[in-house]
Amino acid sequence: MTARIRVLTGHRPTGPRHIGHLVGTLQTWVDLQNSHDCFFLVADFHVLTTNETINNLRHNTIEMVLDWLAAGIDPARSTLIVQSAIPEHAVLGLLLGMLAPVSRLERVPTYKEHIQTLRLNPSLGLLAYPVLQAADILLYRSTTVPVGEDQLPHLELARELARRFNMLYGIIFPEPQPRLSRMPRLPGIDNRTMHTSYNNAIYLRDTPAVTESKVMQMYTDPNRIRTTDRGQVAGNPVFTYLDLFHSDKDLVVDLKSRYTAGKIGDVAVKQILVTALNAYLAPLRQRRSELAAHPDDLWDFLHQGTERARPIARETLESVYAAIGLTGRALSRDTTIHPTVMSGLFC
Ligand code: TRP
Repeated sequence: MTARIRVLTGHRPTGPRHIGHLVGTLQTWVDLQNSHDCFFLVADFHVLTTNETINNLRHNTIEMVLDWLAAGIDPARSTLIVQSAIPEHAVLGLLLGMLAPVSRLERVPTYKEHIQTLRLNPSLGLLAYPVLQAADILLYRSTTVPVGEDQLPHLELARELARRFNMLYGIIFPEPQPRLSRMPRLPGIDNRTMHTSYNNAIYLRDTPAVTESKVMQMYTDPNRIRTTDRGQVAGNPVFTYLDLFHSDKDLVVDLKSRYTAGKIGDVAVKQILVTALNAYLAPLRQRRSELAAHPDDLWDFLHQGTERARPIARETLESVYAAIGLTGRALSRDTTIHPTVMSGLFC
């Protein structure tokens, strides 16, 4: 059997995933599992780049991983990794940081946005965010990184660091390529990009009733006052959702022409969307609630995945040490993390 191409990607464990994550990233991850060797990272170190203290990390991790699995991530085929349980991420991040000019990092768009919008006094950690992300990817020598468009500058930096490392010390790292998902960003119920902090998201874990009330509040064509007014389909998130989630495409075509002709009201269209969306999400929610009944299993999946990943991380770091000429031994060569530490992490 030929070796499968290795994929690494991940999310920061910031809580439950919404339907924007589902169509934007998770479905791509799920598909890749059939053809690639997939590593999915719980990037908990990265959470600290914008928060000095972490609240509810355990809870947020469970909520996120539940959604990953409910969406179809299969821990038997894919490797789930907890970043902070593998210190090699941090060590490789440190070493790659030696190759990253500060002026280059200051130009990364996500960094600039963060300091503008959050008015943060940025930490070294925030500046080094994409360096740590490069370490995540390169540590497993992964060649393919499925991400959203906002992450492309980070991937560009990861490639630059890989090239620079290879040039200085010898070829160790492949240059990772991004793989964009098919779906562009999904609008939230207020028609801005769906985002947890905008309070405009529909979550996978929302009940059908909550989903209904969110859909009924959704932004539609603002110029349409009466049902008989001609409606605008383009840029109307209700129709974006119908295109994505309604299984009967002919019916959606028909709805669009009735809406444009002023022959069906917003409430009626939204009710059709509620039914379609709840039907679409039903199997996923069913699976989610089954999984949620056994949270210990989730920690086991994370633990098992992390232990599968650990020797790969260790071996890469050994090669990195040897290439650079460091005389120490790479971090966890003979170390098994003490069981009490592990239970602190995973219980
Ligand atoms: N920066 C990514 C995000 O916010 C999360 C992430 C951390 C990541 N490490 C990664 C994504 C490595 C891909 C590969 O979504």
